[in-house]
Amino acid sequence: MQLPIRVKLVDVGPRDGLQNEKGHVPAEVKIGLVHRLQEAGLTEIEVTSFVSPKWVPQMADAAEVMAGIHRKPGVRYSVLTPNLKGFEAALPSRPDEIVVFGAASEAFSRKNINCSIAESIERFAPVVEGARAKGIAVRGAISTAVGCPYEGDVAPDRVELVARLMKEIGVQHVGVADTIGVGTPRKVQAAMEAALRHYGLDEVSGHFHDTYGQALGNTLACLEMGVWQFDTSSAGLGGCPYAKGATGNVATEDVVYMLHGMGIDTGIDLDKLIDAGKFISDFLQRPPNSRASTAILNKRAG
Ligand code: HMG
Ligand code: MG
Repeated sequence: MQLPIRVKLVDVGPRDGLQNEKGHVPAEVKIGLVHRLQEAGLTEIEVTSFVSPKWVPQMADAAEVMAGIHRKPGVRYSVLTPNLKGFEAALPSRPDEIVVFGAASEAFSRKNINCSIAESIERFAPVVEGARAKGIAVRGAISTAVGCPYEGDVAPDRVELVARLMKEIGVQHVGVADTIGVGTPRKVQAAMEAALRHYGLDEVSGHFHDTYGQALGNTLACLEMGVWQFDTSSAGLGGCPYAKGATGNVATEDVVYMLHGMGIDTGIDLDKLIDAGKFISDFLQRPPNSRASTAILNKRAG
């Protein structure tokens, strides 16, 4: 066991968390969530996506949200850019990092971004080149790294292939994503090992949806490999519009509670984080999807 002493969490709540919401969430609410997350000590926030508004209407206000954020020094703001059109639209918003998102399964690639894996890499290449020329960091997400809603189990070889292709076009960091939350610790470790064949320990992260309640266990399994970067979602919000039935990412609150309990530093103030999750949950008129948040809010009420 080589547990890290410090972990970096990227809160993807404003993007992954809200992209699947059916009701309109005004830009000012999204901005309010980002502000509360940075106040709670998050230093990386995935804010929005520059994708087709026909495909993901909730992200149509990407530029407005980015423009409304009072940037806090030391915080990095990332956005999703699936193609050159998205990248060019994102540039005036001055993202610190862009995310290209591919998949380890062909069927999911087609459903999510309307092209094959090979075509997606061709589309990403000029985006990556453009970003790196401008000094913008580039992350790649590898969706369906353990299971696909259309193809079922996904072999680690598929993850290895996408990691290799992403490495070849200059993607600097890859996130191993269990899009539908079907992974269990050994499977997720195998997918992570596949990515680690092309990326170093400092260049990988875990992105685990919690559909089957495995995401905290999967996070711990990756911590035991020395992985120290994870995407999590405030109040456990989220899901992908092209992965029906998949629920949100593991709640940031639950991961922070676990890490702090293990003596691992995150730089995050759990109480303020609970407030951030409560803020967005109140807007959405449902309780936060986080056990730690529920427990702490009950304690406060008592
Ligand atoms: P397409 O239809 O193949 O694109 O979509 P196209 O190039 O043929 O263009 C068709 C139309 O879309 C045109 O407009 C383009 O201008 C427009 P029209 O002439 O019909 O009016 N268009 C765009 N508009 C705005 N921004 C753009 C853009 N590109 C084209 N960037 C595309 C391809 C990728 C755009 C589309 O499939 C799409 O937007 N997909 C959305 C995918 C998405 O956002 N999924 C959710 C995020 S990924 C995720 O959640 C997984 C992750 O969390 C990890 C995990 O958990 O697995 C990251
Ligand atoms: Mg996701």
